Amino acid sequence: MTSVSNSTTEIPEYHDVPDTPPIPRTAVVPAAGLGTRFLPATKTVPKELLPVVDTPGIELVAEEAKSAGAERLLIITSPGKDGVVAHFVEDLVLENTLAKRGKAAMLAKVRKAPSLLDVASVIQEKPLGLGHAVGCVEEYLDDDEDAIAVLLPDDLVLPGGVLEVMARTRQRRGGSVLCAIEVPGDRISAYGVFDVEDLPDANNPNVKRLKGMVEKPAPEDAPSNLAAAGRYILDRKIFDALRRIKPGAGGELQLTDAIALLIEEGEPVHVVVHHGTRHDLGNPGGYLKAAVDFALDRDDYGPDLREWLTERLK
Ligand code: UTP
Repeated sequence: MTSVSNSTTEIPEYHDVPDTPPIPRTAVVPAAGLGTRFLPATKTVPKELLPVVDTPGIELVAEEAKSAGAERLLIITSPGKDGVVAHFVEDLVLENTLAKRGKAAMLAKVRKAPSLLDVASVIQEKPLGLGHAVGCVEEYLDDDEDAIAVLLPDDLVLPGGVLEVMARTRQRRGGSVLCAIEVPGDRISAYGVFDVEDLPDANNPNVKRLKGMVEKPAPEDAPSNLAAAGRYILDRKIFDALRRIKPGAGGELQLTDAIALLIEEGEPVHVVVHHGTRHDLGNPGGYLKAAVDFALDRDDYGPDLREWLTERLK
């Protein structure tokens, strides 16, 4: 098990707990949505497989889960989106061909996704919302798994390390832990926004108690500048809460409603504020920024892209 600790949310809060926080064994990646914001591409290509330079977004998220110490990746997918899981299956014909041609670097790239984690899939028959999707995994967990990590593949949260901080927060304070990023007031309306309060006993100001959430508020109604960032450590009690909430608009079960129910019932729910970058791969604008950001950092494409962009922007 590895532990990455390069997040700016790293802490004095936790000097009294062991170094390796207990990351949930199972990382759940919901990928059964329709991806309508990415049509027409998503008519046949799952958005989770769209490449950020050359690597599908879902592989980057799987790498994050692996670095955090998860052992198993449970991909929630829909009938017909088999390619998402196939990306994590060995392709021996392709591997042999690359090996015979001496393409060692390509071979390593192709082998990476299948070697990361133990991957399994869960089918969500109909896109009945993120809450419904998460509810589908309960029967696939072992009895001793008291929490899951959920990583939305639309969200890239950089640099890595926030899941570890979230796991430590759960270790110290119990319950569920969500990830927040700071968003300027004029852009806050695009997000789920957290209503939080500071903890009197926190050494780390980035850890806060969650009081509630508001979906896409008008800027003047936003309870904070902290937006949900697609990373969750959810106590197993979430499944019971999901069974007790009612579907909202479009018949969808919202994960946030189940989290709100846990808060209402006095379960501990905290957020960790992550100071870093968040890319939203779920819409073409955010996806393009992520691709450019990643490409600029690459030795093979970065210099040429930088030169072209500079010229193009003149
Ligand atoms: P989104 O609402 O952002 O994704 O859900 P979407 O529905 O695919 O996209 P649009 O809005 O139509 O463009 C957040 C995450 O939850 C998953 C999605 O795959 C995405 O990773 N999801 C959503 C499910 O797995 N099942 C659902 O029923 C809904």
